[in-house]
Amino acid sequence: MAEQLLAIAVDLARRAGALVAEGRARAGLDRARLNVQSKSTPTDVVTAMDRASEQFLIGELRRLRPGDAILGEEGGPQAGSTGVRWLVDPIDGTVNYLYGLPQYAVSVAAEVAGRVVAGAVHNPVSGETFLASAGGGAWLAAPDGPDRRLRVTGCTELAQALVSTGFGYSAADRAVQAVVVAAVLPQVRDIRRFGSAALDLCFLAAGRVDAYYEHGLHAWDYAAGGLVAAEAGAELTGLHGRPPGEELYVAAAPGVAPAFFALLTGLIARPDRHPAES
Ligand code: IPD
Repeated sequence: MAEQLLAIAVDLARRAGALVAEGRARAGLDRARLNVQSKSTPTDVVTAMDRASEQFLIGELRRLRPGDAILGEEGGPQAGSTGVRWLVDPIDGTVNYLYGLPQYAVSVAAEVAGRVVAGAVHNPVSGETFLASAGGGAWLAAPDGPDRRLRVTGCTELAQALVSTGFGYSAADRAVQAVVVAAVLPQVRDIRRFGSAALDLCFLAAGRVDAYYEHGLHAWDYAAGGLVAAEAGAELTGLHGRPPGEELYVAAAPGVAPAFFALLTGLIARPDRHPAES
């Protein structure tokens, strides 16, 4: 079943990716043509193409898998009766999309009985599709070569670890996230902020970073990428050893995971230093 769901996730992520990339190319330098509106804060934006992409994904899922539940970023949850739930992010990295930066993706994941079993993250600019099924490994399908099995890095020293992270849209959360990142930065090789949580997790899987953390994500941001990272051998944790999730998502190559988790736990133990505890 996971393989069937994965085939749908890959196909839909690619077709929605083509749709949003065409919309971006049509707008060119004229951002007003993307019809941008604010959501939770003035910096949290949605474009007409986020909505069009989500409508496409939901329409296709309704046609292909009637009865499945769906949770999308831009619409309300849709209940189902089959035990399968789809988590779709029509554009993860909307701010990059708006500015014409190449780090954005469509993310499609399928859960069975609350557990993610298949996920695809497609970047239409690079043409890369990161995909995974539970127990089936993590893979990168790219236009320039055969499919490649993904494996996290063998990094063993926190001081050598390249760490990616992201920031929320609320100014109050960001003020605390800035304190945390300031404490992490001197302990690691460097920090990256790519602007798409789904791609951050896939980059961890592909060995492009050694670790990733973020507070305040939503399930559609991490569902597919989290499975890709886990299937590539990443260790994952959340707040106080709970599963990774919206309050805190931490993922790392096994060689640095203990030290990285301890570093973040140390920061979290000081409530003034982490929004998840404020
Ligand atoms: C955002 C991106 C970003 C992360 C934010 C997310 P969106 O998703 O994944 O990297 O730092 O927390 O909200 O708004 O582009 O779909």
